[in-house]
Amino acid sequence: MKVIIGPASTALAEKVAELIRCEKVSVAFKTFPDGESYIRLEGCMQGEHAAIIQTTCAPQDSRLMQLAFMAAAAKRNGARKVTAVVPYLAYARQDKVFLAGENISIETVAQMLKAAGVDALVTVNIHAESALGMFPFPAKNLSAIPLLAEYFVQKGYRGAFALAPDKGALYIAQQAQQVLGGEAGYLEKQRDRYTGQTKQTCKGLDVKGKAVIIFDDIISTGGTIVGAAEILREQGAAKVFAACVHPLLIGEAEKRILDAGVEEIVGTDSVPSRNSKVSLAPLIANALKALESG
Ligand code: R5P
Repeated sequence: MKVIIGPASTALAEKVAELIRCEKVSVAFKTFPDGESYIRLEGCMQGEHAAIIQTTCAPQDSRLMQLAFMAAAAKRNGARKVTAVVPYLAYARQDKVFLAGENISIETVAQMLKAAGVDALVTVNIHAESALGMFPFPAKNLSAIPLLAEYFVQKGYRGAFALAPDKGALYIAQQAQQVLGGEAGYLEKQRDRYTGQTKQTCKGLDVKGKAVIIFDDIISTGGTIVGAAEILREQGAAKVFAACVHPLLIGEAEKRILDAGVEEIVGTDSVPSRNSKVSLAPLIANALKALESG
């Protein structure tokens, strides 16, 4: 196996290559003045299993094109198999038709990757696992939640309350609970499909005097975490933390969350940011080792 160092995930890809002790392939890349992407693989791919590590956070469309170009270049240069390791998979939230006339964007992304030469996908905490069924090749979803929970154990928060900001994320809070050893619960959340506005409510949770960690797959605008933190404060939580796998943290999100009384935001390096305090490298390295031996 050779690890192709995707331009969007250079630090993470380097760490993974070191952990699995395999050869790295650098990628020369640039954006032309008109906005088009260019990539060139700087290594021989003949007969190799190429693992391309490339996240697809903003600018999503360019990151996806770079990924497709790297896959096609690997195949064109003799790779026998291409595995796309995409820690944050863009467009996964549009996994169904919510309003008439919409596209199922993640399905189109899957077909585009297949057409480019991708043979397998490894991703991390995809928004809904059901979307994996739309990929026309084997697709594996890893969970970084135990690693995030372990970060809080190391900081002395064993026993903290693991809270999901909506019912759909309860399984995430429960995964964290396995490591933290405390309680888990969720808030009710309703989203207006036209405005995108959400409203959260709390039913039957006892967080008074407790340290609470809100676990979610993504923090984007921060609205979900801010809403949850406000409810937790009203309910008398002693301390509130926010943990997510994909810290997109758009615009003023970080400030809004800290202003809402959240003590710390902890994300992974699926999306490089100053809040990316937990590395996915061991998780991805183990998954690639299993793929090679399996
Ligand atoms: C939605 O269902 C996701 O799990 C996240 O809760 C959502 O993407 C967070 O978005 P925001 O930070 O904009 O509230």
